[in-house]
Amino acid sequence: MSQPPGAHRPVPAPQSLTTQAVARRSTPVAASATDLTKVYGQGETRVTALDSVSVEFGRGRFTAIMGPSGSGKSTLMHCMAGLDTISSGTARIGDVELSSLRDKQLTRLRRDKVGFIFQAFNLLPTLTAAENITLPMDIAGRKPDREWLNRVIDTVGLSQRLSHRPSQLSGGQQQRVAVARALASRPEIIFADEPTGNLDSQSGAEVLGFLRSSVLELGQTVVMVTHDPVAASYANDVIFLADGRIVDSLHQPTADAVLDRMRDLSAAPDRRADLAPDGCSS
Ligand SMILES: Nc1ncnc2c1ncn2[C@@H]1O[C@H](COP(=O)(O)OP(=O)(O)O)[C@@H](O)[C@H]1O
Ligand SMILES: [Mg+2]
Repeated sequence: MSQPPGAHRPVPAPQSLTTQAVARRSTPVAASATDLTKVYGQGETRVTALDSVSVEFGRGRFTAIMGPSGSGKSTLMHCMAGLDTISSGTARIGDVELSSLRDKQLTRLRRDKVGFIFQAFNLLPTLTAAENITLPMDIAGRKPDREWLNRVIDTVGLSQRLSHRPSQLSGGQQQRVAVARALASRPEIIFADEPTGNLDSQSGAEVLGFLRSSVLELGQTVVMVTHDPVAASYANDVIFLADGRIVDSLHQPTADAVLDRMRDLSAAPDRRADLAPDGCSS
């Protein structure tokens, strides 16, 4: 299947949302890419990691990104989050085009508007859960909004664990601390790259349930890379990448529908040849 000509925009679904969440949705797009191309290297080592990708991530929605290893999932997140430069096209957070920003402005935008969750929880072992959650804001010299923070901590189910250090928490709890840390500053958008990749299925379900509640109850926007059809089924929409292009999408996915779509994609003969040599980059 070829990439749709215009920006890929999933159909919005009616959802129960708090007033606050509805208010946060007044601008419909939290982040977008237009003809975003990313090329690494030159000559023989040249790799087109993203090939003219256009996508909109609707505010207050949970989008999963799937695709084979090396299809460009992490590159898309890094470019959208201003962690990597782009070769051509545009990447926007809200209305702000990232390539128009100077280094300092980009750093500030990343700090204020973007949250990250990685596969490794990246918590500081000597700090308590509470201290880890507010660390980025403490470094930035910003005072957390207490009411918001309490709500985040309640939603994430960590109120009884705030004085624990990471070693005293399960993997799932540690990742929930990382999710709360990403949410603490109320970013415009959260990018999560395989957030359940290191978790057993029950802990993974805890984290996914929490990510989904952050969208439904707090109006957060979440974009998550995953290999797991069950994880993807927590999202409102799934987009599928292959060879740096968006090749398919699903609205209100079920795990079975995602699995079927993945099978179709890996069976597509024009792509199978390209993908075969690269099975281990992620
Ligand atoms: N820093 C880099 N330098 C050179 N090539 C890269 C770099 N990062 C990623 N790539 C290449 O870009 C393509 C997409 O990689 P990536 O976005 O990590 O894929 P995914 O996350 O879907 O596994 C792969 O071919 C990968 O080898
Ligand atoms: Mg990756």
